[in-house]
Amino acid sequence: MPVTRTQVGIVGAGPAGLMLGHLLHLRGIDSVIVENRSREHVIDRVRAGVLEQGTVDLMTAAGVAQRLHREGMRHGGIGIAFGGNRHRIALAELTAGRAITIYGQNEVVKDLIDARLETGRPVYFEVDRVGVHDLTTAQPKLRFHHGGDAHEVTCDVVAGCDGFHGICRTAIPATHLRVYERDYPFGWLGVLASAPPTSDELVYSLHDRGFALFSMRSPSITRLYLQCAPDENAEDWSDDRIWAELTARLSTSDGWAPAVGPILQKGVTGMRSFVAEPMRYGRLFLAGDAAHIVPPTGAKGLNLAMADVYRLAEAIAEHSTSVREDALDAYSDRGLRRTWRAQRFSWWMTSMLHRSESDNAFDRRRQLAELDYLVGSRAAMTSLAENYVGVPFD
Ligand code: FAD
Ligand code: PHB
Repeated sequence: MPVTRTQVGIVGAGPAGLMLGHLLHLRGIDSVIVENRSREHVIDRVRAGVLEQGTVDLMTAAGVAQRLHREGMRHGGIGIAFGGNRHRIALAELTAGRAITIYGQNEVVKDLIDARLETGRPVYFEVDRVGVHDLTTAQPKLRFHHGGDAHEVTCDVVAGCDGFHGICRTAIPATHLRVYERDYPFGWLGVLASAPPTSDELVYSLHDRGFALFSMRSPSITRLYLQCAPDENAEDWSDDRIWAELTARLSTSDGWAPAVGPILQKGVTGMRSFVAEPMRYGRLFLAGDAAHIVPPTGAKGLNLAMADVYRLAEAIAEHSTSVREDALDAYSDRGLRRTWRAQRFSWWMTSMLHRSESDNAFDRRRQLAELDYLVGSRAAMTSLAENYVGVPFD
């Protein structure tokens, strides 16, 4: 079995793993990235679309934002619809000019893979039997099979960037991990449609029939979501049924409605809040979905992953030059502070905008009162805006 050495072994080539590899490269730190899916699969997965200002700033500083600046759509506001009316929250005006940018996660991943390949540093796709070993020693190891051959990589640090279903978090003994969790009694049916966006900005809507979200990917592609049952089969939703439901839940009294067009892709995502503490075990550091999951209503998942790897790259760089442990020691606590802030916000957006079967008439009126207060109070809108655009990475 070939035994090689690197400074950082990275499990997972999602946004967290790829960005970490790139940030380390910029500091002259070597890494090996292993990913169990194919390159095409990783690029084709349609997921998040909202980049916080901090994510855009990080990608720009890292030199991987050329296409993002050309094709991304900068939005200075979002719409909130309820009771048949649409209200605007002026994100940029309320946050001294901070904004969000719409750019698909798959585009981010494509750009980061291109950047990785250009560096010539290793990234292995379609690996299997990935394992992390000797985590509490100074030489943790990554083992995997690629193209039928077994590999072992000796590292200084292992980064678990392998998402919620990965192997890194589960390699930590249960006695060293505390897990906080909440499942929601609904999911999202996500739809990609060949239809020009009829609004320049996103619209989050609460309707008696449940939540709906209007988003986009380009001047000709709309991205839409509908609240549904968590175990719903997307195939039970015909195109006609999807459009009838989206039109009913999103249309507002000013005559606005999404444009109807061919549906290119559809899928159901469950919703959960999840945090594993601490984000470290010995020389294994968890980043992104491997450590925490938020329901997508606050558009925070991808952005939290980027904030994690920004901090982790800084800590590894400090450790590699000074051999000091302080920054590595601080990684988890600093990350958890940001994570809990995003957890609270994502939970709040989710409960404000979804209908639950356990809600009674009081809950429904309280929910409308919350929305009414939100769109009528500059203080409430500012609170939403500063969380939605995201606090600067620290
Ligand atoms: P991931 O993107 O999950 O990347 C982890 C990578 O590790 C994957 O490529 C995986 O194949 C790989 N991997 C897993 N196990 C192994 C292994 N054993 N060995 C090697 N590699 C492994 N967020 C939003 O903000 N808005 C959304 O609309 C939204 N929609 C989502 C829809 C779905 C179906 C999912 C799952 C997530 C969604 N998210 C959304 C969340 C957002 O996409 C994630 O927060 C983001 O992908 C986190 O990036 P990551 O790199 O931490 O994890
Ligand atoms: C998306 O465009 O995919 C999107 C936008 C906002 C969210 C979640 C997903 O809150």
